Amino acid sequence: DKDGHKHFMAKEIAEQPLAIDRTLHAYLSEIDEITLPDELDFTKVDRLTMVACGTGYYACMVGKYWFEQIAKMPVEVDVASEFRYREPPVSDRTLGLFVSQSGETADTLAALRYMNGKANQIVGMVNVSESSIARESDVVLPLYAGPEISVASTKAFTCQLVILLIMALRAAQQRGIALPESLPADLRAIPGLINQALTLENQITATCRELSAAKDIIFLGRGQLYPLAMEGALKLKELSYIHAEGYASGELKHGPIALIDDTVPVIVMAPRDALFDKTISNMQEVMARGGRVVLVTDAEGARIAGEGTSEVIVMPQVPDALAPILYAIPAQQIAYYTAIAKGTDVDQPRNLAKSVTVE
Ligand code: M6R
Repeated sequence: DKDGHKHFMAKEIAEQPLAIDRTLHAYLSEIDEITLPDELDFTKVDRLTMVACGTGYYACMVGKYWFEQIAKMPVEVDVASEFRYREPPVSDRTLGLFVSQSGETADTLAALRYMNGKANQIVGMVNVSESSIARESDVVLPLYAGPEISVASTKAFTCQLVILLIMALRAAQQRGIALPESLPADLRAIPGLINQALTLENQITATCRELSAAKDIIFLGRGQLYPLAMEGALKLKELSYIHAEGYASGELKHGPIALIDDTVPVIVMAPRDALFDKTISNMQEVMARGGRVVLVTDAEGARIAGEGTSEVIVMPQVPDALAPILYAIPAQQIAYYTAIAKGTDVDQPRNLAKSVTVE
């Protein structure tokens, strides 16, 4: 049931405030205490290895920034299909975290089995609680996103991010590191901020009509927004069949800038955080070469850097650490409305399956 929406994807994008409320309810008490299962013990490990595929992998990449910055914990992240054949040495002071919406992704399950018996603990973060990954994990962290039907993952991604951030906070507590002021309480603001971001839909629809004529689109981001650039590009590829790449802004001048001309739109994700100036200077390099920029930022960012861009999408102000969760919304909407403009099959893109149970 699409609940009055044209596609499951639209419904699932719109459901995110509710889905995240459920996730917060599961992992934060009313007085903002972290209520992750007690078995999840970061004092017994000194390293975290996260493994996933596709969108789950990008969630893990954001998680890496959080675990490193907030919990000062070394983190390794890999795509499951690479991890499983690399034969990486695994110490018994490593926590293995496997992130999968379906809980059935063959490569992720194989990577879990590789780590089982070697790692200190196997944690499965899944949306489908009765799944193989859940069954074979020592600790299961359900997403509580509700059924995700659209092939493109949306609400599972933002719920994964929320839990990863709460996990990083728990790791910091257990490692005796002070939590950033205002977290986890700030997480309560996320559903409301997403509701505000969802109202930018009309503007994004208009932007996407133009984007839909492009053959190649580049997404740029820095720091914790770099994985969001890749997530935006993945969503766009899978739904609109437009070739898209997500790059770390600072990598641009090491090759990809050669692609830039006025036929290649560049979408820059840049909340006004500590890395803003760096990202903007990369954006200006793009504009100097005739590139057309769509800047996704907040009001202050728009005021400072909006000039000369072809479009500015002004997001609500968000605490720095939470930006990746909020900026997932325009990433999803850009893919969705570009696909609508092109007339592709949004919920069931060609060549793709919701659950990839073969390697
Ligand atoms: O069920 P999983 O989270 O293990 O699936 C992993 C990927 O196949 C999945 O995220 C895929 O990349 C999505 N279609 C992206 O929208």
